[in-house]
Amino acid sequence: MDYKLLDGKAVAAQIKQELTEEVSRIKAAGGKTPHLAAILVGHDGGSETYVAGKVKTCKEIGFQSTLIRYEDDVTEEELLRKVDELNRDADVDGFIVQLPLPPHISEQKVIEAVDYRKDVDGFHPVNMGRMAVGLPCFLSATPAGILELLKRYEIETKGKHCVVLGRSNIVGKPVAMMMMQKSYPGDCTVTICHSRSQNLKEMCLSADIIIAALGVPEFVKADMVKEGAVVVDVGTTRLPSSVTRSGYKLTGDVKFDEVAPKCSYITPVPGGVGPMTIISLMRNTLLAGKQLIP
Ligand code: GUN
Repeated sequence: MDYKLLDGKAVAAQIKQELTEEVSRIKAAGGKTPHLAAILVGHDGGSETYVAGKVKTCKEIGFQSTLIRYEDDVTEEELLRKVDELNRDADVDGFIVQLPLPPHISEQKVIEAVDYRKDVDGFHPVNMGRMAVGLPCFLSATPAGILELLKRYEIETKGKHCVVLGRSNIVGKPVAMMMMQKSYPGDCTVTICHSRSQNLKEMCLSADIIIAALGVPEFVKADMVKEGAVVVDVGTTRLPSSVTRSGYKLTGDVKFDEVAPKCSYITPVPGGVGPMTIISLMRNTLLAGKQLIP
């Protein structure tokens, strides 16, 4: 089958342009410049790259951004104090705490400490709950980015079988919920598979849409994919490489070379879901600036 790429990089660039124009209009009308703050703890290579990407995109769109860094040994108390400070800082419209956090800090405690009206990651239980019920909220960035990508390519989703691989709070669970929502994209019959699932291969083979978010490099093979399926790869494992300058290669959860020829559409890694995640965060920040979330 002749497959088409779901080009997240190109779509994100287009949305970035739209957001830039909107920010210019807001500023020209005397409105407030949207302001995103990001807290980064430690020096995890992936987190460094993601946060740098977020700060850079803020600049390009015309947002204000603030990066707050801590070493690995920051105490939970100190981090919670900073969260509280950002909650009360009227100039900061939204902020994120980049995950993962070191093991001595409770991620859940930190997530719940963020004022849900500034939770542009959409991780707070109020936003997760509102999303589940279909109320206005901050949608978590990766799932929202995936749905936007499907929308811009006009992928049919109504009545389709969507198999989500992975049950994480930041991707698997919310994207499954969103794909089943009565809307477009959505209206899917959703199956969530995870590391304990039996018949995982059979499930995948019956899928019209596969969303792979396990974090296991090249887990999805050609013999697991139906002819004509749409495959979305959320994996971003850094594998050592002697070929690249950085010394690693970003590797998805899908064995692209053998799976792609069976697909109607497939996302590349990198350049698929990743750029869409950042752009969704920017959209949420703009929403936060407009104070549209009650
Ligand atoms: N770690 C991996 N993805 C994300 C994300 O979308 N937001 C934050 N804060 N941390 C992450």
